[in-house]
Amino acid sequence: MSGARRLAWSAGLGILLFGAGYLIHDSGLMSFSFTSEKGGITQIGSQVYTREAMESDRKTHQADRAAPTAGMPVGADGYYSPPSENSIPDSPYGDAVKRGRAIFMETSTMVSEHVGNTLACVNCHLDAGRRENSAPMWGAYVRYPAYRSKTKSISTIEDRIKGCFTYSMNAQGSPSGQPPPAGSDIYRDLTTYFYWMADGASTGEKLPGSGYPKLKKPEEDYDVMRGQTVYAQNCALCHGADGQGQRDPDSGVVFPPLWGPNSYNWGAGMARIDTAAGFIKANMPLGKPFSLTDQEAWDVAAFVDSHERPKDPRQTGTLEEARVEFHDGEESFYGKAVNGKVVGGGTEQED
Ligand code: HEC
Ligand code: HEC
Repeated sequence: MSGARRLAWSAGLGILLFGAGYLIHDSGLMSFSFTSEKGGITQIGSQVYTREAMESDRKTHQADRAAPTAGMPVGADGYYSPPSENSIPDSPYGDAVKRGRAIFMETSTMVSEHVGNTLACVNCHLDAGRRENSAPMWGAYVRYPAYRSKTKSISTIEDRIKGCFTYSMNAQGSPSGQPPPAGSDIYRDLTTYFYWMADGASTGEKLPGSGYPKLKKPEEDYDVMRGQTVYAQNCALCHGADGQGQRDPDSGVVFPPLWGPNSYNWGAGMARIDTAAGFIKANMPLGKPFSLTDQEAWDVAAFVDSHERPKDPRQTGTLEEARVEFHDGEESFYGKAVNGKVVGGGTEQED
């Protein structure tokens, strides 16, 4: 097969798998299909409460304060159900929601000044930031401001977005070299989009499906070599044997890179093996969530995160100093040897 045909073929298969995932997801079958190894996910009893019911209860309550307040809309899968995309209002507010959504989906074209790789927010926060167990934006919006040990300070939602620009989007490699400055319209539009998506979500509790699942470290630890086999069998089709992904200009399908100069940098949450394992377990292979065992998810996460990627922008002195200051005790290969070679120095330092 020619390179182009192979690309088209695998992209086509990708769409198929993707479609299958959506069907399963929409039919609510999903909640039955992951009975085994739900690693870290809280099983939730589901009591469907539709958005229409919420809106009607709101009206009733507004007219008569003695009537019960509206609850949180919950779907058949037991998770919060965000408003449908076609309900974004035609108004200045709706326009901001749409701008925020566009930035989220097409980050490197919409706000190229601040993006130093080929990723988009939606690559790690699936389904336009709506997907449960994919750090959905409705789950995030209602949880900030909050104290974070990573920064040892209170983070606002803007701080969290800035963090993803700095590390996940590798802003240091962008034309401006910086994440959007404080108060930028980029944060305003993204936050407006998240607020719209979280309408009706309750604050003050961690909602089921928010963040990525936390997977307990498997008994056999994790292993890069085993991960390589998992990768070849389950991931290379879309992300490429070289991890650089692929882009099909005809279908517009994008398989993002997993390592190398166009990926997230060493300071990113996804560069931590535990975080990547949780994301992968619940979201990859695309369309087949929860199909890998916890062991496979950890192993393949270790394989992905054993590769060189752009440097941690916080590293000003030596690699070892940065490892001690920012990466001590975490599950990552930062500043450690993989197959006899220390990684973490960044893709900029070629040898
Ligand atoms: C390479 C993957 C990746 C990309 C790309 C990415 N993020 Fe994230 N994002 C993460 C990870 C990992 C976390 C941390 C989740 C955790 O702590 O469990 C996170 C957390 C967040 C949070 C907080 C979520 C929560 O529940 O606390 C927000 C908000 C967020 N990202 C927004 C964005 C935005 C906006 C963009 C695009 C500008 C973006 N992210 C791009 C991986 C990514
Ligand atoms: C059917 C194609 C397909 C397969 C197979 C697949 N992925 Fe993905 N992967 C994607 C797509 C597409 C995205 C971006 C999701 C989006 O934008 O909606 C993605 C996103 C990711 C991301 C976050 C974005 C980034 O570039 O870092 C990681 C990490 C990832 N995949 C790892 C894996 C691993 C590990 C496997 C194998 C266990 C795997 N994927 C299998 C298509 C696939």
